[in-house]
Amino acid sequence: MKIGIDKIGFFTSDLYVDMRELAQQRQEDPAKYLIGIGQKKMAVIRPTQDVVTLAANAVDQILSEADRQKLGLVIFGTESGVDNSKSTAAYLAGLLKLPEKLQVVEVKQACYGATAGLDFAQGYLCLHPEKKVLVIGADIARYGLRTPGEPTQGGGAVAMLVTTNPRIIAFEPNSAVAMRDANDFWRPLGESEARVAGKFSNNLYLDLLQEVWQEYQKTAGLQLIDFTAFIFHLPYTKLGLKGLRSLTSGNDLAINSQLFKQFEAARSYNSQVGNLYTGSLYLSFLSLLQNSPKLQAGQRIGFYSYGSGAQAEFFSGLLQPKFKEQIARNDFKQILTGRRKISVADYESLYQQQVIQTTEHKLRTTEDLAKYVFAGTHESQRTYEIH
Ligand code: COA
Repeated sequence: MKIGIDKIGFFTSDLYVDMRELAQQRQEDPAKYLIGIGQKKMAVIRPTQDVVTLAANAVDQILSEADRQKLGLVIFGTESGVDNSKSTAAYLAGLLKLPEKLQVVEVKQACYGATAGLDFAQGYLCLHPEKKVLVIGADIARYGLRTPGEPTQGGGAVAMLVTTNPRIIAFEPNSAVAMRDANDFWRPLGESEARVAGKFSNNLYLDLLQEVWQEYQKTAGLQLIDFTAFIFHLPYTKLGLKGLRSLTSGNDLAINSQLFKQFEAARSYNSQVGNLYTGSLYLSFLSLLQNSPKLQAGQRIGFYSYGSGAQAEFFSGLLQPKFKEQIARNDFKQILTGRRKISVADYESLYQQQVIQTTEHKLRTTEDLAKYVFAGTHESQRTYEIH
């Protein structure tokens, strides 16, 4: 039985800051951000968006009435949750008015959460092949202002409808995993900015990539030449480039050249949005599908998922005959080109407002043109609006 991704939706803020301008304000050479880190633009999330609304705006693009009726499970991967108890999936189901004969759950393991969601969805669909599962990766990536992590912020949501007989990609049975109890990136309770040991985290990402890739090749009986493209978790796009270099080192130059071309297509959207944490790998998948002219049904894509703390997984899938039609249903390029550039001063002001507030407050939502918006907190409960 084939199981995989049938539809993908994506949403991010309508505001961004230009990385060249941010570099100038931080007295850095712009080439460091543009080439050294590999980021061109960074999404700036409005205070009237949280992970629930980002996800709702992404799901809204893909979910038909027929999908709603068959939905059995919603798995929400995030590390920017809005409640210590109630899951973001429950908030989302309420906001989208999903049928209530449903299971909802939030999954957390840094940037790995959505990948865990895809794994769990496959198990669920083996038991309930007639059902559909919604897997979300939604986050707001926040480091401190003027810290080394600042140029690797961003935010947004990717929503995937996982089904049997999927029309975009069918996952293959073999995958390889590895974990470490590591403090490379974490966010203590009560803090709204992540702490990161950047160099340590990069090294662990690359070490675990090698570990799971070697293991995957043994168990799947496949090697580099069997893949059309590799996509990576991209906290910033240069790290994926380092990952691809480590996989291709010493390999045939002609094959490598194709893989690096595919990587450029796969990092295009991420370089314009920044880090989505849980959604980053899947935004890169979308970027590959919409920006690579050469993909064909039947080709194999390799996925490297990494979540600090740390969990790594390498898995693969085969593109399905209708993948081009499915991807052409939404114009994601337009979401990115239709955004408005804001100044570094305006970004800093929005950054200060983008914190979880539990006290009574009402936000002005008229400036946010998204369909689903966060409106503030009333009697300790989060309130949402549909525009
Ligand atoms: N032109 C071109 N490249 C330049 C440059 C210039 N003028 N100046 C610096 N660079 C390069 C550096 O050589 C380096 O490249 P390398 O990694 O290939 O060596 C890169 O730009 C970054 O420079 P560096 O001095 O390492 O930057 P930094 O100390 O400010 O930190 C990160 C960069 C990525 C470590 C930091 O942004 C970070 O920690 N981000 C968070 C990462 C994360 O999210 N990790 C957890 C999830 S996986």
